[in-house]
Amino acid sequence: MIVLGIETSCDETAAAVIENGRKILSNVISSSIDLHQKTGGIIPEVAAREQIKCIIPVVQEAIQNSKLEVQDLKAIAVTTGPGLIGSLLVGIETAKTLAYIWKKPIIPVNHLQAHLYANWLEGKKPQFPALGLVVSGGHTELVLIKNHGQYQWLGGTRDDAAGECFDKTARLLGFPYPGGPEIARLSEKGNSQAYNLPRPMIKQENLDFSFSGLKTAVINLKRKGGKIRKADLAASIQQAIADVLVEKTVQATKKHQVKNVLLAGGVAANQLLRKQLAERLGKIKLYVPSPKLCTDNATYIASWAFFNYQPIPWKKIKVNPGMSIC
Ligand code: KG4
Ligand code: ZN
Repeated sequence: MIVLGIETSCDETAAAVIENGRKILSNVISSSIDLHQKTGGIIPEVAAREQIKCIIPVVQEAIQNSKLEVQDLKAIAVTTGPGLIGSLLVGIETAKTLAYIWKKPIIPVNHLQAHLYANWLEGKKPQFPALGLVVSGGHTELVLIKNHGQYQWLGGTRDDAAGECFDKTARLLGFPYPGGPEIARLSEKGNSQAYNLPRPMIKQENLDFSFSGLKTAVINLKRKGGKIRKADLAASIQQAIADVLVEKTVQATKKHQVKNVLLAGGVAANQLLRKQLAERLGKIKLYVPSPKLCTDNATYIASWAFFNYQPIPWKKIKVNPGMSIC
């Protein structure tokens, strides 16, 4: 079954054509990141206006690159949330219009569940039950995946997401948006023990996270004045975030019997997190998508749709900006 995926939950405008949930026939991503770098973060209105301009060319290119015709598509999958409301609307209204004109079923997709399906697009298929850790710019969620469509939310952040913590602390250090890759790059030259930063909630029994205190600790360091060794501070921030994510994920595998752990979301591109999580999990196999499939794109939107196929009438598709993973 061939599915066209459409993703516009944040600043990316993406479309992909996927065969049987696993084979990438095309993957087109257009990003308005240059505009957001000027403002140090995403202005939702600006993102949505850019997406209106490029959604049709992006979809056209995705179909063209797949070497297929519109009649080969069995369904259109589109992110309905969570995300920025204006951005989501661009994708949803485009998908609805195409579904109506092309007479295709439309499949609404939860962006967070879908992130996990990047792990179905390469190598061996993950086995259930699995534990999913979704770490993106807006979310940090631990979820037990009993089967396709059977998700049990185990915990999540009570304030900032891990990605947001990377982005905001990077901004304090004077780096452009998105800050995660910048912190990771700079960390390579730094000493991760140089600054003693908090690991919020790491000792608590629950599977929740909190990253706002870590951000405040970095603000306070800056306020104190004195010379900041940027590479050391970047490495210390990265280590603090990775320590909390790794510890809570390991705790979750002790509470729930799982065959695999699936890492997903933009922060899953972080090499330190990938390495340290794999080491701590020992015999439990860790699945991590290649970095380019971790950050937002439409491949995993179409993959989720294949494995959780439930077409509904296009008139009923609604934007759902705030929904959670389950
Ligand atoms: O999943 P994603 O592309 O978009 C959302 O759904 O939010 O995640 C974006 C987040 C940003 O916070 C970005 O800084 C972070 O992923 N990120 C990274 C890395 N690459 C992207 N964080 C740490 N290390 C990286 N290498
Ligand atoms: Zn995302």
